[in-house]
Amino acid sequence: MLETVAKAGIAARAGYPGSAEQQPRSLAEIDLAGIERLETGIGELDRVLGGGIVAGSVLLIGGDPGIGKSTLLLQLMAQLCPRLSSLYVSGEESLEQIGMRARRLGLRPDGLRCLAATDMDQVIAAAERLEAGLMIVDSIQTMACGELESAPGSVSQVREAAAKLVRWAKQRRCCVVLVGHVTKDGSLAGPRILEHMVDTVLYFEGDGGSRIRLIRAVKNRFGAVNELGMFAMTGTGLREVKNPSAIFLSGHDAAVPGSVITVVREGTRPILLELQALVADSHLNNPRRVALGLEPNRLAMMLAVMHRHGGLNLANKDVFINVVGGIRITETGADLPLMLALQSSARDQALPARWVCFGEVGLAGEVRPVHDGTERLKAALGHGYVSAIVPAANAPRGGIKGLELHPVSSAAEAMQLVAAI
Ligand code: TYD
Ligand code: MG
Repeated sequence: MLETVAKAGIAARAGYPGSAEQQPRSLAEIDLAGIERLETGIGELDRVLGGGIVAGSVLLIGGDPGIGKSTLLLQLMAQLCPRLSSLYVSGEESLEQIGMRARRLGLRPDGLRCLAATDMDQVIAAAERLEAGLMIVDSIQTMACGELESAPGSVSQVREAAAKLVRWAKQRRCCVVLVGHVTKDGSLAGPRILEHMVDTVLYFEGDGGSRIRLIRAVKNRFGAVNELGMFAMTGTGLREVKNPSAIFLSGHDAAVPGSVITVVREGTRPILLELQALVADSHLNNPRRVALGLEPNRLAMMLAVMHRHGGLNLANKDVFINVVGGIRITETGADLPLMLALQSSARDQALPARWVCFGEVGLAGEVRPVHDGTERLKAALGHGYVSAIVPAANAPRGGIKGLELHPVSSAAEAMQLVAAI
C-alpha cells in the first residue's frame, strides 16, 4: 500500500517523464537526430514554430473568441492527418459544428477524427486507441479530471488536465496542441502556469474589423520567439499572407495630420505600419491616454520627453494612439514616429506623403539607432517612399539611392525638422 502511494507520488511529480534514465550524461552523447520536426505544410505556421512541429512537443495557442483558433487547427489537422494519426477533441462544439466547419473549409473529411468529450481520462484513452501522433484539445478550459472536485475551467482543473496531457505527450511522443482562452486583459485565462508547462506558446492577434490575423510565438523551446506568421481570414478559412510588408497601410495616399508611416521589424521581416495619433482638448481632470497596439507606458514616456525636450506640452489634452490593422508593436523603433504623430496631430500639420520614420527615443531626448536600419530603409524604398527621418547612426554612409535621408540625433531636432517642412 505504502509502496503504491509512493510510486503514484513520484509519477505525479516527475517533470519530464520521457526518460526513465537516472544517470547524468554528457550533452555530447545526446543524439539530436532524435528530434523530429514535421513541416505542417502551412508556411506561415512553420515560420512561427521555427520550421515545423516537433514530435512530443506541447503547444498552447491563445487568442480572443472568434479569432480563428479552431479554424487554423482544423486546417492544420487536415494537412497532417495523411502523415500522422490525428485526433481533434472538442469540449466546446458538437461534432456537427466541427463537420460544418470542415465542409466550409473544403477539407476532405476522411482521416479527420473528432471526439466531443471533456473527461481527461476518456480523451487520453481515445488517443491511445488511435495511437495518435497529433492531438488537438479545444479548449483546455473545458477539460476536467474526474479525481478533482472543482468545476472545469478552475485553476486546479486546468493545471491538472494540462499536466496530464504534457506527461502523456512526452511519453507517447505525440504532438499535443492546446487551445487556451484569453481573458479581457489579454492574458491566458486560468493559471499562467500553463505557459510554463508547455514547449511553445502562440498568440493570435488581430482586430475584429480586419481580416488580417497574426500569430506570434511568445515562447518557443524549439525556435525563435517574436516571430510572426500572417494570415487573412477568408470565406474558406485562413489563407497565408506571404508578403506582409505593406498590408497594414490604411491605403489613403493623401497626407493627414496625426498619421505617420513607420517600418518595424517584428520577427525577421520589416513591416510598414501606419501609426495614428489624435490629440484633442480635454475637459477631464485626468485627460485620457489611450494606446491601441502600443505599450501605454511608452506613450506616457514619449509625452514626457516631448514636454521636457521638445517644448510641447500635452498635459491638458486627451491623447489617442492607434496602430492600423490591429498589430501590436513590441519594439522601440516606433518611439520617434509616435512622437511625430503626436506633434502632427497637436499642430494639425501633416507630414508630407511618402515619408517614413523610425528610431528609439531615450529619456534624455536622444534618438538612438535600431537594429537592421538599412533593411528597413530598403523596404520603405521598395514601397515607393521617398524620404526617411532616421537616427543619425542608422543612416548608411553612402546614402540610399532614391531615398532622401534626414538623420536626427535628438527628439527636439526631429520635431523642429518636421515643424519647418
Ligand atoms: P473560429 O475558428 O471558430 O474561432 P475561435 O476558435 O478562435 O473562437 O473562427 C470563427 C470566426 O471565423 C467566425 O466568426 C467565422 C469566421 N470564419 C470565416 O470567416 N471563414 C471561415 O472559413 C471560417 C471557418 C470561419
Ligand atoms: Mg473555437
